[in-house]
Amino acid sequence: MAKGDQARTLKRMVYADMTGASLRVLAVSSGKGGVGKTNLVANLAFALANRKKKVLVVDADLGLNNVDILLGLVPRHHIGHVLSGEKTVDEILVPGPQGMMILPAGDGLQELTQIDSEKKMLMMDELDRVSNGFDFLIFDTGAGISTNVTFFCSAAHEILLVISTEPTSLTDVYALIKVLFQKHGQKHFRIIVNSVRSEPEAQKVFRHLAAVTDRFLKNVSLEYMGFILLDANVPKAVRQQKAFMELYPNSKASLCIDQLAKKIVFEQLPDWANRDQPYFWRSAFQVQ
Ligand SMILES: Nc1ncnc2c1ncn2[C@@H]1O[C@H](COP(=O)(O)OP(=O)(O)OP(=O)(O)O)[C@@H](O)[C@H]1O
Ligand SMILES: [Mg+2]
Repeated sequence: MAKGDQARTLKRMVYADMTGASLRVLAVSSGKGGVGKTNLVANLAFALANRKKKVLVVDADLGLNNVDILLGLVPRHHIGHVLSGEKTVDEILVPGPQGMMILPAGDGLQELTQIDSEKKMLMMDELDRVSNGFDFLIFDTGAGISTNVTFFCSAAHEILLVISTEPTSLTDVYALIKVLFQKHGQKHFRIIVNSVRSEPEAQKVFRHLAAVTDRFLKNVSLEYMGFILLDANVPKAVRQQKAFMELYPNSKASLCIDQLAKKIVFEQLPDWANRDQPYFWRSAFQVQ
């Protein structure tokens, strides 16, 4: 390891130790809907939890097919109820499988941007407190270029984009990357190719996307993170409202997710992913 890298790694370790800033915030998004984001979020969370990581999944999708439904959970409250003073953040957290926790954010997240600054500060403190002690915060942001998606992608440490072999998933993700780059200054994107028949197929799809971005979006870097095989056990688990990692741990898709979790846990984080930021929520909403 080069001297500069060593110094940076050491600084990061010391800093993390001082501030407790070991939290990694991942936003999972896609250009096109229905490419498998929520399944990835729920099952990656499961796999990370399996590896003894403390994971908080934030359901930031305003759509219908949410993480809670996928995992058969029935949260009765969301952040909106905290904002209205009916509940505390601890009261709305829902325990999921394997010790993961779910924060049903839903519509309440939109409201967060509109409340007065004193209330916002209290809310951010609460959310920071709740996030404290977790290793991972994973956002299921929904698809497309809505402000909800771009906001959480911009605020996260790492942006994971899910694509599939469908041509529209590529054109739509290109549009999302373009917006995140040109309007939000995001340069680094980690790509996961879902529903493929083989790894070479995933790499081919990735190369195709990378060729287009290289050509038209200079300074954007795409990283191939991994792939998830097309697997009939995925829809089967969806119907049973359970993580496929739980029902079918040796299934093709589960093995792929576990590989991904392993990579995420053991990788040396690139510098761009390290924002030395212990107070995620406060910084996300720019509360000083
Ligand atoms: N690897 C896979 N193999 C087979 N089917 C899959 C796979 N991944 C996802 N699916 C199927 O695709 C459908 C959509 O998945 P999911 O709900 O996770 O997508 P999404 O991107 O979160 O959708 P939305 O944009 O609506 O939130 C599910 O019914 C699921 O069964
Ligand atoms: Mg979804």
